[in-house]
Amino acid sequence: MNYLEFGGQYVPQQLKIKLNKLKEEFDRLVGSEEFSGEYRRCLKQFVGRPSPLFFASNLTKYAGGAKIYLKREDLNHTGAHKINNAIGQALLARKMNKTHIIAETGAGQHGVATATAAALFGLKCKIFMGKEDVKRQKINVNKMKLLGADVFEVTTGNQTLKEAVDVAFDYFLNHQDVFYLIGSAVGPSPYPEMVKYFQKVIGEEAKRQIVEQEGKLPKAIVACVGGGSNSIGLFADFIDEKQVDIYGVEGAGKGLESGKHACAIYQNKIGVIHGMKTYVMQDENGKIKDAYSISAGLDYPGIGPEHAYLYKTGRVKYDSITDSEATGAFTLLCRLEGIVPALESSHAVAYALKIAKQYDKNDAIVVNLSGRGDKDLNTMIKIMEQKREKNLVKTDKNTDIRSM
Ligand SMILES: Cc1ncc(COP(=O)(O)O)c(C=O)c1O
Repeated sequence: MNYLEFGGQYVPQQLKIKLNKLKEEFDRLVGSEEFSGEYRRCLKQFVGRPSPLFFASNLTKYAGGAKIYLKREDLNHTGAHKINNAIGQALLARKMNKTHIIAETGAGQHGVATATAAALFGLKCKIFMGKEDVKRQKINVNKMKLLGADVFEVTTGNQTLKEAVDVAFDYFLNHQDVFYLIGSAVGPSPYPEMVKYFQKVIGEEAKRQIVEQEGKLPKAIVACVGGGSNSIGLFADFIDEKQVDIYGVEGAGKGLESGKHACAIYQNKIGVIHGMKTYVMQDENGKIKDAYSISAGLDYPGIGPEHAYLYKTGRVKYDSITDSEATGAFTLLCRLEGIVPALESSHAVAYALKIAKQYDKNDAIVVNLSGRGDKDLNTMIKIMEQKREKNLVKTDKNTDIRSM
């Protein structure tokens, strides 16, 4: 697909040859009934699709506006949307007779999904993960190891997702037989298109489900944006429905003015990162800046090229949510609906709470609950303990739950 000036293949010639071969195989296989039948079967029997669309009535009452529906990607096998894409690309790798897959991971969800797909299809698997993320996502690191993957700790730079991708790309370039299973809608073509293809099931299901439950399309849809895979997956089938407002939510970290955030679009600067041209956080000399977000999956200084296109053409509104707004929404969803969301997804929930009042009570907002929060429990418990120590957590009934 053509994304205006965005996307492309900003990689050495040697890698272009590999990527073009990958595109050829992808185009051939997705057109075949055998491949798509096998993929659909895996989604149904292994992943557990379709994921439910849940009417969050308590959250709706709390927000006081449009009805809030949650697309429950957290209920997928391995606990997030990442498995949709991991299964698709691992199937592709197997069809291309590759025996060794590699992947990068931030929050560990893509690493776990890839290790799972590798185990299912009998492939050797190596996961690259920044040392900082290894520390904050210990549970997922242990899961990857249990599933038989080799986890390689990346110690360069900020030691988070960007560096993990850097090292994975180097490895891909230097190992002829390896299949690089990218986890977000980023990277050189054809990765953004492939990842969208494997994630668009989210929006296709959500559209069918909301029409079944409400008899009409939603007024708005909302998803968090790291590299942009769960969001493009939700958005894809709604982009041509002009009456639906679409919102992408980046991580504002400690606040946009603090400089400690992960909002690629905020500065409006275009550059090249990981083989694609897109909006990317840069300093005054054009050097890529370190991103920051409490949620490892949003901690990425770039954004997928289709999101850059959707921003520039004005079809999607991109905005941001701070760490503290996200942790507030995390607590709310636990207490009001009995759902423990991923911190990434909590950004989308927080945004839906902000905009619900702009819409009529008879309208619906669909929020992509991209993953579950088991991996974030240590982070959340630490925050709650720190607040308790500072005596900020009041226990009387009137306390605004968002302050917890
Ligand atoms: C649960 C969850 N949601 C969202 C994201 C962000 O990634 P993406 O923008 O590719 O959906 C991640 C990344 O790890 C994740 O684990």
